[in-house]
Amino acid sequence: MKSDGSTIRPIRLAADASCVEVLDQTLLPHQLAWRRLAGRDDAAHAIRSMQVRGAPLIGATAAFGLWLALKHDPSDAGLAAADEVLRATRPTAVNLAWALDAVAAAVRPWPPNARAAAALAKAQAIAEEDVAINAAIGRNGLKLFEERARAVGAGRDGTRPLNVLTHCNAGALACVAWGTATSPIYQAHAQGMHVHVWVDETRPRNQGANLTAWELGQSGVPHTVIVDNAGGHLMQHGKVDLCIVGTDRVTADGDVCNKIGTYLKALAAKDNGIPFYVALPSPTIDWTIQDGLREIPIEERDEREVTHIQGALADGRVDSVRLTPEGARAANYGFDVTPARLVSALITERGTCPASREGLLGLFPERRPNVG
Ligand code: MRU
Repeated sequence: MKSDGSTIRPIRLAADASCVEVLDQTLLPHQLAWRRLAGRDDAAHAIRSMQVRGAPLIGATAAFGLWLALKHDPSDAGLAAADEVLRATRPTAVNLAWALDAVAAAVRPWPPNARAAAALAKAQAIAEEDVAINAAIGRNGLKLFEERARAVGAGRDGTRPLNVLTHCNAGALACVAWGTATSPIYQAHAQGMHVHVWVDETRPRNQGANLTAWELGQSGVPHTVIVDNAGGHLMQHGKVDLCIVGTDRVTADGDVCNKIGTYLKALAAKDNGIPFYVALPSPTIDWTIQDGLREIPIEERDEREVTHIQGALADGRVDSVRLTPEGARAANYGFDVTPARLVSALITERGTCPASREGLLGLFPERRPNVG
């Protein structure tokens, strides 16, 4: 599967339109396996087990999950039950609640026999909107890449590559296409800019090493996987020109929640005077909260993700081995919060802005109190 970022699509309607298919991200990059999601519980399992993951893709999968549930039971009670099951799958990415609310609002006015069709139409609209949003984030982010490339004398023929550091996977695999943080990278690469990406491996689940490296490889973008602790060293030695990450939830004041370890990269970037950008689709803004540290629920996952590591055996089978002494306890916090003051700019589909209430409201004036 060769790609330019726009063609990696980890979720699709089945050919007979009876259900949804998702690319199983628990097996990438070793195996390419598609899973059929035929009902509400399949969708919930896919999100919880991280066959699908990444904030926008979690939202899209939940939206289709509501459709699958309503095909079975389109009553008010069926809608409420499906909403509850899907909403409980993962706590941090706000896109999940956003997508469920959007589908529920679209179906509620309809009588039960029309609700499944309305849900499918809304889920498909959410998926296509994600593609358009991410393409726009790419175009807006590209301007920042070009500015930075000019400032450091990189990225063009005869100069060194522009070195970009990213954390986790905020790529096409985390979305419906393009990715958020990867979209400017794909667009810069497509325009002939020489870009090189430092890919944080992103322990414990290694979304960088497994997923970001895979999709950048599919797209021919030069990249190097590094251990999570290497970024600060690279920054101190002038080997990082800019950082760009995705996000699972941004508060109305611009605090950014993203995969665990993001905060440390932002601190190192600040210390070294390196721009730290956050690619932010508008469904990821939680306008109801201000203080990311206190108000965003941080997912805690199974300690086995820390005590064990998964990879491919010589015969191609995917298996895991224990890293820690038998019986050692582990803590597994999925996300952290980077305070707005450490973020150089938010890159949205409407343009870029400072990470602040005024910055966000400048791009989304309809969110100002007392505005229509
Ligand atoms: O636990 P994950 O893999 O779902 O976490 C994903 C991330 O933290 C991504 O950076 C974030 O969802 C942004 S995806 C465009």
